[in-house]
Amino acid sequence: MRVQERLDRIFAIGGGPGANRVHGTPAEDEAHALAAEWLRAAGLDVTVDADGNLFGRSSARPDVWVGSHLDSVPQGGRFDGALGVVAAIEAVERAGAGSVVVFRGEEVGCVGSRACCGRARELPSTFLELHVEQGPVLADAGVPLGVVSGIVGYARGEFVLEGREGHAGTTPMAARDDALVAAAAEILRVRDAALAVEGAVATVGQVEVEPGGVNVIPARVRLSLDVRAPDTERLDAVIAGVGFRPRSRVEPVELRGAARTALREAIAGAGIEVVELPSGAGHDAGILAAAGVDSAMLFVRSLNGGISHSPDELSSPEDVALAVGVLADALTHVVSAR
Ligand code: HGY
Ligand code: MN
Ligand code: MN
Repeated sequence: MRVQERLDRIFAIGGGPGANRVHGTPAEDEAHALAAEWLRAAGLDVTVDADGNLFGRSSARPDVWVGSHLDSVPQGGRFDGALGVVAAIEAVERAGAGSVVVFRGEEVGCVGSRACCGRARELPSTFLELHVEQGPVLADAGVPLGVVSGIVGYARGEFVLEGREGHAGTTPMAARDDALVAAAAEILRVRDAALAVEGAVATVGQVEVEPGGVNVIPARVRLSLDVRAPDTERLDAVIAGVGFRPRSRVEPVELRGAARTALREAIAGAGIEVVELPSGAGHDAGILAAAGVDSAMLFVRSLNGGISHSPDELSSPEDVALAVGVLADALTHVVSAR
C-alpha cells in the first residue's frame, strides 16, 4: 500500500535508530523535498512559504488545509508527523480538493505553524490533522480511531545551576560545590511539582554538564524544562510550582468546530464507535485553533502501550488504512459544505 511505502521512505531518511529528522537539519529538508515530489505527482500547485512550510494546493477549496509535520525528535517514531503528511496527500487526492500543508519544526515548539499564523495573511477556513495518539487510551478502549477534544498547553524553559569545578580526587566531599548534585535535587523537585497538580506533567529531557570531564567536579548544569497541563489554571499552577520563567508557552485549546463534527460523522459512517479524547501532546492543530481556525484532529490507535518519541512507536496497517479513509471522507464532507 502506497501509504506504507511512503512511510518507509520517510523513516529511512536521517539514518537510525528511529526517525532522525530534527528541525533545521538536512534530514528535515530531504523529507520536505520528498513530500514536494509527491505533491507535484498529485498535480497540486506546490509552494514553500517564507518559513519553509510546504504547500500543495488543489484548485478546488484550497482554503481547507490538511497536514502535519515531517520533523522528528531524535530517534523518534515512524508515524509521528509523517503519517499526517502522507495521509493528507491521499485525502486531498481522493477528495479532489483542499490543500496539503507540511509545517516545519513542530517538535521544537511548532515554529512553522506559529510563523504561518503570525503572518495571518492567508489562514485556512479549516484545518484537519491525522496523528498517532501517542498514548494508550484508544487501545484500552478497543477502538482504532478517536477525535481529539482538546490539546494540552505547555511551557518550555530551563534551569542553570552553578557550582565550582574541582579535582575529583583531591577535593574532599565537604569542600565541594557540585552543580550536578544540586541538579539532581532540582529534577526530583520538578517531578514533585507536577505530581502536586492533577493532570499536569513535567519533564527534564536534557542535562548538559560543564566542563564534562569524568574526573572534574561539575561547575555548571543546564536542565531543560517541559511542563504541561490540560487547562490554563493548572498550567499556571505547575509553572509556579516548578518556579521558572518559560521561554515559550502554548495555551491549552479546545477543538469544537464543524471540522470536529465532520470527523465524528466520518468515523460513525465507517461503522466505528466515536470516542473523543484530549491530547497530552502538542500539535500544529492547536496553533491553528488558537489562531481562530476551525481545526480538528483524528487520532489513530497507538500499540506497544502507546509509546511514542521512540523507535517502538507502532500503529497497525489496518488502523492506518481506516484512518486515511476516514480523513478523506471528512475532507470530502468539509469541502462540499459551504
Ligand atoms: O512534544 C509534543 O507534545 C509533540 O510531540 N511535539
Ligand atoms: Mn507530532
Ligand atoms: Mn512528536
